[in-house]
Amino acid sequence: MSAFNKEQVLSVRHWTDSLFSFTTTRDPGFRFLNGQFTMMGLEVDGRPLLRAYSMASANHEESLEFFSIKVADGPLTSRLQKIREGDTILVGRKATGTLIADNLLAGSRLLLLSTGTGLAPFASLIKDPEVYDRFEKIVLVHGCRQVSELAYGEQLVAGLSEDEFFGPVLTEKLVYYPTVTREPFRNRGRITDLITTDRLFADTDLPSLNLETDRIMLCGSPSMLEDLRVILEERGFAEGNHSEPGHFVIEKAFVER
Ligand code: A2P
Repeated sequence: MSAFNKEQVLSVRHWTDSLFSFTTTRDPGFRFLNGQFTMMGLEVDGRPLLRAYSMASANHEESLEFFSIKVADGPLTSRLQKIREGDTILVGRKATGTLIADNLLAGSRLLLLSTGTGLAPFASLIKDPEVYDRFEKIVLVHGCRQVSELAYGEQLVAGLSEDEFFGPVLTEKLVYYPTVTREPFRNRGRITDLITTDRLFADTDLPSLNLETDRIMLCGSPSMLEDLRVILEERGFAEGNHSEPGHFVIEKAFVER
């Protein structure tokens, strides 16, 4: 049996010159936990060309969704960005990853801190009813260089807010904080600075970072992850994994090419 399922592209949406998302059919046997990733890609010259991609869709959804960058000379994304409805893509049969609630100690507030396409696993997690059962508040931070790069996340949150089931839950529990570093916007600055200066919490009228109550998931560029790890460890937060739950968990935003 092949390690991959062949799926059909159902829709493609281009958000900016460098970002797009698409949905595909989903093999009924493909199971995953919200926040996990799998190998995904295209057959090129008769061979699979795959990269790790987080599912941006939730596991209760019938189709799969992915959020990707486009790199002009990237072996996969230069091709993947050209897919159209009806095309075939390859999706691994197995999902894995550390951004799952079971890798975290019990807490009352969940901070989801992302940059760029690192938003993808959190797009899945904010559609997970269990996450809202487990935490009293969920703070979704998405940092990008430009305002246009926030569009995918903004539409996702806006759509969920209008959803019959999620709407009331989101109003009560989700705080969405998009932030931009390279042009004017209502929220400005790097996530690292927003945390160390307490700006994130002041702006959202929420209590400051607290080891007792806060659990954190990080997904984004390697330098952002490293800097945040240092900031959190200095404050006593410990990294969790499958064998030992902790105060925070990390996954890099995979596709760089
Ligand atoms: P900045 O514009 O100040 O570099 P990238 O596109 O390079 O992955 O960056 C996405 C977002 O992440 C940008 O807003 C960028 O800010 C920010 N960023 C990059 N490196 C770090 C870091 N080490 N800590 C916090 N934020 C970062």
